[in-house]
Amino acid sequence: MQAIDPDKLKLFSFLLFTKLEGAVTSAMVHLGDHLGIYRAMASADAPMTTAQLAHATQLNERWIREWAYNQAAAKIISTINNPSESPAIDDDTFFLSLEQTAVLALDNHPAFGMGMFYGLPQTMESLNHLPESFRTGIGHNYDSKGSQGAVSIERNFEPWSNANLISAVLPKLDGITQALSAGAKVADVGCGAGGAVLLMGKEFPESEFIGYDISKYALARAAEKLKVSKLTNATFADPRDQPMTTNNSINFITTFDCIHDMTHPLQMMQSIRQAITDDGTWLLVDIKAHDTFTMNATKNPMAALLYGVSVMSCMSSSMSQPGGAGLGTLGLSASTAEQMAKSAGFSRFRKLDVEHAVNAFYEIRP
Ligand SMILES: C[S@@+](CC[C@H](N)C(=O)[O-])C[C@H]1O[C@@H](n2cnc3c(N)ncnc32)[C@H](O)[C@@H]1O
Repeated sequence: MQAIDPDKLKLFSFLLFTKLEGAVTSAMVHLGDHLGIYRAMASADAPMTTAQLAHATQLNERWIREWAYNQAAAKIISTINNPSESPAIDDDTFFLSLEQTAVLALDNHPAFGMGMFYGLPQTMESLNHLPESFRTGIGHNYDSKGSQGAVSIERNFEPWSNANLISAVLPKLDGITQALSAGAKVADVGCGAGGAVLLMGKEFPESEFIGYDISKYALARAAEKLKVSKLTNATFADPRDQPMTTNNSINFITTFDCIHDMTHPLQMMQSIRQAITDDGTWLLVDIKAHDTFTMNATKNPMAALLYGVSVMSCMSSSMSQPGGAGLGTLGLSASTAEQMAKSAGFSRFRKLDVEHAVNAFYEIRP
């Protein structure tokens, strides 16, 4: 029998516990966002002691201090203490660098990263029902994560989209900006909380927009935001109550990060083909994926994160009905998307040159 190599044993244990450190630190990041601690740090004009931070947030100093020690040890926040230079400096004084501020505290910055952390309690809560899903095969749709789940998705995707959709993505599509300026019919399928619909609706008042989603929480959030926006050229609907048209009358259809979540993605592509005009355009935005697990694992540094998110959210959603396709977060590679789109009746497929950490962008036409 082979003996355990003590060095490899130590290394493996270390690797495993770095994952637990990530999970626990992520929980602390959730609290930093939820309790407004990052925002308080971002609005201060100098590093803060934990007493000052407790005062600014109206929270208990001892709890803030322990939280800050986690965050500084994990290098999520900064401390002015630098032990190698001046070990005696007060180590209870913390601040955010400009980069930390952008990712942790600025809701409108394209690099804002709190969306997924916001929904962490609901995502982790799914551990209570996932064992049953492993037995039955049936997963859970986005509404299983409650209204906070919908807000989490919104906070995750909207900052980048608000900064880039109109200026950097639409101009890459043949003739779309001009068509929208002149007046076109547009549908955003899997619209979530409606950010893209409202953004485009405001920019292109001559066009008419409809957002479809099956999440009651996302649709409620979209309706709230529509009311605030006062736009009259946008509506939202659940396609089960109000199915998308089948008479080839929509000029531009968008799907942002949702086809891989759907139980019947090929059927959805067929519906999109039936809805779109013969000279229309479908903008497919979906997770950048390779064709095989090995390629994803070796080429995508976020592969482990994305496969885990898949089990807890994306694949679970796409297995939420019997017969669900179960594509999963990394299940819609360019070649899979192209092959599916072609079998749904589209003939032109072009990858767009848009830089994004996670997503790929495609122009698909009949
Ligand atoms: C990851 S979210 C993306 C939401 C939005 N597009 C965004 O970028 O913020 C995926 C969305 O797809 C929706 N969805 C899943 N299956 C759907 C279906 N068959 N029809 C419409 N929406 C669906 C979910 O409810 C969820 O809101």
